[in-house]
Amino acid sequence: MGRLAIMAAMPQELQTLLDAMPDETRVRRAGPDFWVGHWEGRELVVVLSGIGKVAAATTATLLLTEFQATQILFVGVAGGLGADVQVGDVVVATELLQHDMDASPLFPRFEIPGQGLSRLPTHTALSNAVAAAATQALATGSGRRTTHALDALATQRDARVHQGLIVSGDRFVSSASESTALRQALPDALAVEMEGAALAQVCHDFGVPFAVVRTISDRADDTAHVDFGRFIDEVARHVALDIVRGTLRHGS
Ligand code: ADE
Repeated sequence: MGRLAIMAAMPQELQTLLDAMPDETRVRRAGPDFWVGHWEGRELVVVLSGIGKVAAATTATLLLTEFQATQILFVGVAGGLGADVQVGDVVVATELLQHDMDASPLFPRFEIPGQGLSRLPTHTALSNAVAAAATQALATGSGRRTTHALDALATQRDARVHQGLIVSGDRFVSSASESTALRQALPDALAVEMEGAALAQVCHDFGVPFAVVRTISDRADDTAHVDFGRFIDEVARHVALDIVRGTLRHGS
């Protein structure tokens, strides 16, 4: 089956995964600590991605060249852009795009120069396995278990899983004007984060299957930063753990 790599966006998410793994060994390469071990009968390498596209691209490249990862799954949080994508929901990417890539007028806005593409698709079977695990996680545990913890979630409808476009850029989107501009430029974007499209480009170059799953921590507006740390501690790290476990158990 090969070795599955898990890239976690935040230290709390990484630690929660490491706490569940029975036998990890630390290996340091070019900055990040990589944790090699097993879980649910599968060979794993787990690492903190680092924030932003360059860090994610470096980490992904090391996973492929130094750790022989045969698939990569990114778990983390994102800001919701789609009208019905609310805090506590989970978005599984079907494709990723760099919203801050703009070499116009030489190339169309968002196109990766030299690739002739702006949107890079994720691996369908892996993404569907992740979406199934996310649906299960929200129905049975992590989403609900913690709904009392955050005021924003207490009044919310049941959390949902969405599949579609995730956009990435080297900015934490924390104003309504910026998220409105993103929605206008990319009406089908469900969520915004800072790493996924970089992982997509590396995996596309190497021909390696990958998936990106994000729990929605905020609406990418003026209050995006307010409950961010608390949300990761109280919600996102539990959801990430359940999604990774479910993906390992039910096929990837
Ligand atoms: N990750 C979580 N929320 C985000 C936001 N609002 N912008 C970029 N990345 C994020």
